[in-house]
Amino acid sequence: MASINFFQSRIMIFKFLIFVFICNCLSKLINGISDSHLSLDYYKKTCPSVEGIVRKEMECACLSDPRNAALILRLHFHDCFVQGCDGSVLLDDTVTLKGEKNAPNNKNALKGFRIIDKIKNSIESECPGIVSCADILTIAARDAVLLVGGPYWDVPLGRKDSRNAAYELTDTNLPTADEGLISIISKFISQGLSVTDMVALSGAHTIGKARCVNFRKRIYGDFKMTSTSMISPISSSYLSELKSLCPPIDQINGSSDNNETSMDNITPDLFDNSYYHVLLKGEGLINSDQELYSSFLGIQTKKIVEKYAANTIAFFEQFAQSMVKMGNITNPETYVNGEIRKSCRFVNT
Ligand code: HEM
Repeated sequence: MASINFFQSRIMIFKFLIFVFICNCLSKLINGISDSHLSLDYYKKTCPSVEGIVRKEMECACLSDPRNAALILRLHFHDCFVQGCDGSVLLDDTVTLKGEKNAPNNKNALKGFRIIDKIKNSIESECPGIVSCADILTIAARDAVLLVGGPYWDVPLGRKDSRNAAYELTDTNLPTADEGLISIISKFISQGLSVTDMVALSGAHTIGKARCVNFRKRIYGDFKMTSTSMISPISSSYLSELKSLCPPIDQINGSSDNNETSMDNITPDLFDNSYYHVLLKGEGLINSDQELYSSFLGIQTKKIVEKYAANTIAFFEQFAQSMVKMGNITNPETYVNGEIRKSCRFVNT
């Protein structure tokens, strides 16, 4: 009985939190997120070749290494969650600007900047001063997904680049591997994204890799409890592999923190729904992923995971919709004070 009361009270707290966040975010949703500044034909007259150029460059990048798709997709996510999709994540540190790249949640964890530089150079030589870095990153993220087997969606365009970055917001807005489900949900809701968006967008982890520092606690913690590693030889050898890649903290001299492995160990380079199958097996590499299926607070998220594991089309449709929604998180300040950067790494002088 005592445990039921505890459970019920957690549900009530959860519902209350959701309610408060929805109220807080309603005005943000109405004012900014469904952004009327964006349109599908924004560059039709000024730079009709923009999408073709991005596609060609992304084809080269993904052909040389499919991992590049993951790098670009994550960059876009980390751009949009910190003061909107405004290219702020692309800015380098300067004497007058503290960029987001070296903030704790991004340092050593974001790559792909050179790919964006290359795309920007090609676009500048064709249509100088027209296309924002924020738009380039948004189109590139769509192409990244498509080129490794994922869905296509039309990308609304017309973002402006910010003239500043928000180092501190990387800490408050970006979810982390060890964060609990409720806290992650609230971070998505405060960006105007729903629980369904969150579970679908987490499906991005069907490609790309995580570093040991982000999954050590999990493999020496509750991995055995959630997975079938006690009874299945395959799962048990997977866990052993992970442990040899990522030794316990007391046995290392700090050198293994950046060792990487795929988050989807079934089809690591393919954008498909196998990430959700990994969660059903209880073998999510990072804790926050496994929580979607295994947390006792995740009644709704568990159902969504099961749905996407059973139905690739449902996952693809929702992922595409949620990516448009995430890409439409805008920084209203950029419509007053924004610009089209000449180089994605620096604000114009
Ligand atoms: C739901 C909350 C999320 C959390 C807690 C989270 C956390 C992480 C962590 C810890 C990593 C490994 C980073 C590293 O070790 O260097 C990672 C990688 C990645 N994340 Fe997420 N993520 C979340 C949502 C998303 C979303 C919404 C997207 C995109 C739509 C995304 C795309 C990626 C990709 C593609 C990678 C692989 C990057 C690479 O290969 O370098 N993540 N994420």
